[in-house]
Amino acid sequence: MQTLTFRNGDTMPALGLGTWKSAPGEVGQAVESAIELGYRHIDCAAIYRNEPEVGAAFASCLDRSIVQREELWVTSKLWNDSHRPEHVQSAIEKTLADLRLDYLDLYLIHWPVCLPHGQLLPEKGEDLIALDEQPIADTWQAMEALVEKGLCRHIGVSNFSIKKLKALQAAATIAPEMNQIEIHPHLQQNEMFDYCLPNGINLTAYSPLGSGDRPDSFKADDEPVLLENRTIAAIAEKRDCSPAQVLLAWGLVRGGAAIPKSVNRERQAQNLAAAKIELTPEDVAAIAPLDRRYRYVSGSFWAQPGSPYTLENLWDEAA
Ligand code: A2P
Repeated sequence: MQTLTFRNGDTMPALGLGTWKSAPGEVGQAVESAIELGYRHIDCAAIYRNEPEVGAAFASCLDRSIVQREELWVTSKLWNDSHRPEHVQSAIEKTLADLRLDYLDLYLIHWPVCLPHGQLLPEKGEDLIALDEQPIADTWQAMEALVEKGLCRHIGVSNFSIKKLKALQAAATIAPEMNQIEIHPHLQQNEMFDYCLPNGINLTAYSPLGSGDRPDSFKADDEPVLLENRTIAAIAEKRDCSPAQVLLAWGLVRGGAAIPKSVNRERQAQNLAAAKIELTPEDVAAIAPLDRRYRYVSGSFWAQPGSPYTLENLWDEAA
C-alpha cells in the first residue's frame, strides 16, 4: 500500500475507508469488515454522528487482535460549533471517548466556518459566525495544544483554500500537515497539489467516487455521474478493472490519499485492490481534460442569505 509521509516520518496508508453517510446500524459492520479486509486507515468525524458505533467496531477488532492500535491510522474532525479555543479539547475528548481510543493519528478542522457552540447546523444564515469574529488562528492554537497533550499525533484542516492555508501557516507554531478536500477527475485541484506538496501539506480526497449517496439537497439536477463517465469506463475496460478502481488509482497516482466510502464488503475489497492498479501516463493524460472544477459538495449550505459566508469567500475563488 502506498503511504503519505508526515514531517516526523509517520506514514498514513493512502487508501482509507470513508464513514460519511454510513448510517447508524451499518457503519460498525462496515468498519469491522474493512479492517478484516486489510484497511488500516479509517476517516471519521464527529458530525457524521456515528463515532460511537465506529468505536465499538475498533474495540471489537482490537479485542480480536485483528489489528493493533499502532497499525491503524484514525482521523477525525473538529466540528464547526467547537472552534472557540475553550471547546477544542472537550470536542476531541468526546470523539476519543466515542471512538474508544486514547489518541487520534490526525485531527482536522472540518470547515473554515463557525457556528455557535451546541448548534450543529445553521437554521438561517444569521446563525453563522464570521471568521474575523472567531479567527481560525485561535482555534489552531488550541489544536496545537492537543498535540502537546498527546491527544492527537498530527493536525490539519479540511476544505481550506490555498489563501486560507497560507494565512494559517503564517500564524502557526505547528504547521498544518493535511488538507482534506474534494478531489476527483471533475475537480482535479491542480493548483492545490502544486502548492501543498512542496510545502509539506498532504492532501486527502473526499468524495473520490463522486459521492452518489449524498443527500438529495446536495444534488444538482444536471450533475455529472463520475462512475458512469465514458473516459473512465474505457480505461476500466482496458485495465480490466472497475470504474471505481480507475478513479481511486488516479487519486493515488497523483500523490494524494483517498477515502472512498462503502458499506458493502465486496466494494470495499474492490476499492482496496485499486491501490495495486497502475495507470499509465496515457491514462492520466486522458483523464486530465475531464476537469470541470465541479464540486459535488458545493458548500452552499454555509452560504445561505444572511450568512457572512459566500461561495466566493468560502473557496476563495470566483463562484
Ligand atoms: P456503498 O456504500 O453501497 O458501496 P464517495 O466515497 O465518493 O462518497 O462515494 C460513495 C458512494 O459510492 C456510495 O454510494 C457507495 O455505495 C458507492 N461505492 C463505493 N464503492 C463503490 C464501487 N467500488 N463501485 C460502485 N460504487 C461504489
